[in-house]
Amino acid sequence: MANATPSRNRRGRSTYDSSWLPTRYTPRGSDTGDDTRTFLSAIRRNPRQLGAIAPSSRRLADLAASIVPQTAAVVAELGPGTGVISDAIHRRMRDGSGRHLAIELNPDCARHLERSRGDWLEVIRGDAAELGSLLFSADVTEVDAVVSALPWTLMGSDTQQAILGEVAKAMAPGAAFTTVTTVTALPWPAARRFRGLLREVFRDVHTTSMVWRNVPPALLYVCRKPREART
Ligand SMILES: C[S@@+](CC[C@H](N)C(=O)[O-])C[C@H]1O[C@@H](n2cnc3c(N)ncnc32)[C@H](O)[C@@H]1O
Repeated sequence: MANATPSRNRRGRSTYDSSWLPTRYTPRGSDTGDDTRTFLSAIRRNPRQLGAIAPSSRRLADLAASIVPQTAAVVAELGPGTGVISDAIHRRMRDGSGRHLAIELNPDCARHLERSRGDWLEVIRGDAAELGSLLFSADVTEVDAVVSALPWTLMGSDTQQAILGEVAKAMAPGAAFTTVTTVTALPWPAARRFRGLLREVFRDVHTTSMVWRNVPPALLYVCRKPREART
């Protein structure tokens, strides 16, 4: 998890300790290196917003995307970052009959996604806490899946609640919501609070096994049946 403790540089300006960032990285899959460079530079600028030390692995991304129906689905992706989970969702929706909307708060990541994936991805610059109105502006009334890798443990409980409430309201009957959590975040009080909140909002909360091939290892919560379901 990101070390978001401010320190001072030689000119006395407040900065962030980025010494924990990986200095060497071998891009895999569809990442040509540009994704990772954008990700690392976005972390340096705003570690709390990114809330990760590296993009998700392809294995974790494929597992997250597995909740997406393969045909004619409308999918909302929250916090796509530089697109590794977007790519996995895209591979899954390969017949091109659905819609894939990616809501991203970080302007560098959003710009990168528009440039690298804008021909098939609907990039929406905005806050997941405003999911309902963002979807409304995109002419979407409900979604079949919500896939997220937001930094929940760096959020206050009000923000966690606001986003989960919006997710639950946007879900079509039978839709699923999944989100990533890392092994390093699991013991944090905010992570415990988040798990409790998931159970308050959804009747069905399933935890996957750990994906060890991820930095750091991570698992997914897969949630269905919001208690206040759409009718
Ligand atoms: C941990 S990174 C995950 C990136 C990518 N999905 C992956 O798995 O590699 C979290 C992403 O969520 C974005 N984010 C954080 N808060 C957000 C919010 N309230 N609304 C939308 N995106 C947000 C960050 O800018 C970042 O791109």
